[in-house]
Amino acid sequence: MHLAVLFTAFSGAISAATHIYAASYAGTVTTLSSQSKNGSYSLSKVAQSNDCGISPSWLMLDSEHNLMLCLNEGIGAANGSLTSFRTNSNGSLATLDVLETLTGPVMSSVYTMPSNPQQRFVAVAHYEASAVTAYTWNSSTGHLARTQTFTYQMPAPGPVPDRQDASHPHGAIVDPTGRFVLVPDLGMDRIHIFKISPSNGRLQPQAPLLVKPGSGPRHAVFWTPSSKAVSIDDTVMYLVSELDNTLSAFKVRYTRNGLGFTNIFEENTYGGEAAPDGSKASGIQITPGNDHIVVSNRGDATFGKQIDSFAVFKCARFHGSDATNVSFVGLFPAYGSFPREFDINGNNGNVAVALQNSHEVALTEGNAQTGGPGKLLSKKTLDGEIPIAIWGP
Ligand SMILES: *[C@@H]1O[C@H](CO)[C@@H](O)[C@H](O)[C@H]1NC(C)=O
Ligand SMILES: *[C@@H]1O[C@H](CO)[C@@H](O)[C@H](O)[C@H]1NC(C)=O
Ligand SMILES: *[C@@H]1O[C@H](CO)[C@@H](O)[C@H](O)[C@H]1NC(C)=O
Ligand SMILES: *[C@@H]1O[C@H](CO)[C@@H](O)[C@H](O)[C@H]1NC(C)=O
Ligand SMILES: *[C@@H]1O[C@H](CO)[C@@H](O)[C@H](O)[C@H]1NC(C)=O
Repeated sequence: MHLAVLFTAFSGAISAATHIYAASYAGTVTTLSSQSKNGSYSLSKVAQSNDCGISPSWLMLDSEHNLMLCLNEGIGAANGSLTSFRTNSNGSLATLDVLETLTGPVMSSVYTMPSNPQQRFVAVAHYEASAVTAYTWNSSTGHLARTQTFTYQMPAPGPVPDRQDASHPHGAIVDPTGRFVLVPDLGMDRIHIFKISPSNGRLQPQAPLLVKPGSGPRHAVFWTPSSKAVSIDDTVMYLVSELDNTLSAFKVRYTRNGLGFTNIFEENTYGGEAAPDGSKASGIQITPGNDHIVVSNRGDATFGKQIDSFAVFKCARFHGSDATNVSFVGLFPAYGSFPREFDINGNNGNVAVALQNSHEVALTEGNAQTGGPGKLLSKKTLDGEIPIAIWGP
């Protein structure tokens, strides 16, 4: 199938990515600025907001409109919340709207509809509430309004009963055509699939993709041959599963009405060696060179006490003499404990890493060979556990 223009990921548009925004379970969103003096880097705090509630778990940008969405997981509380911010060029955040939600929001994605591309919609995965919710997000006012709620029930616990006691939606990802939202559910070992109504932007549930029992799918990214691709024939979905620490690759088929998947690769995030006790694979990103996949490994202490790892894989290639399967490249240091989310700066390759259990944000260079995390440039200690750090304006 050929499309004239592929959907542009909003968070990928990081033309002026000068600040790092870090969410902390201490109830803060902190803006950091990196300075380099004579080759030595430092991170300094330039602003902080307390408006994202008690447990900020996720940050998402709409760069085109200078908007940021922060999810408050509401750990131990009856409800979570969403806070909509305006990003200022000096790194401060102006609060535009706060909306109470079901508890446990952990990841969101923004999407549009072809008939009104300025209208933003948001899909949110709620781990604790076993739910997916959808919102309109007014791009001029930042106002949020809930439009849809989907909840899931399991007849019996899954193969890993302590984590699969119930449905636990963990990710929310938009496909490269902008027509589908996918939600990996760690509890149910499946990916919920929604078609986005082209006329009103509502989510329409499709048949789910069932994955390996006990694998615990968490997050996923889509790969296309290039960001300017005119063909979606070779689209691949790379999925990271937390409970069995695996990276899986699925070739994606676009049919008239839906999506089809063929599993083409699966290996654990240790290149086939046994995963250390307590490892929990977490975040996943494609490198700016579009040729490697990076997965963060939490709690493996591969590089010493409290120093976890990143697993790097080379992407599959489908054509010509360099056609290859996905392959494991190796493990690279995360410079701290529990690298949960990380973000690679598209301009300079530098990587911002949220070290949840170290209560730190790390800044690394891009690795020259892989484009993944490289040499450590600087670290900054913040209050509380840090689930996510992203580049922004
Ligand atoms: C800059 O770094 C170089 C090499 O580390 C060092 O020799 C030099 O003294 C430094 N200059 C200043 C002004 O700090
Ligand atoms: C940052 O910019 C905003 C918007 O222009 C302004 O209201 C705020 O006072 C500025 N903050 C600082 C610390 O300069
Ligand atoms: C807040 O939590 C309660 C209890 O789970 C739930 O019934 C209610 O719908 C939640 N509020 C919102 C706005 O989702
Ligand atoms: C956004 O809010 C403004 C101000 O209330 C309103 O005029 C506009 O119609 C809203 N946009 C959408 C798409 O709802
Ligand atoms: C790719 O690797 C997988 C193992 O994950 C294997 O099952 C599959 O046959 C390989 N595909 C090709 C084309 O070699």
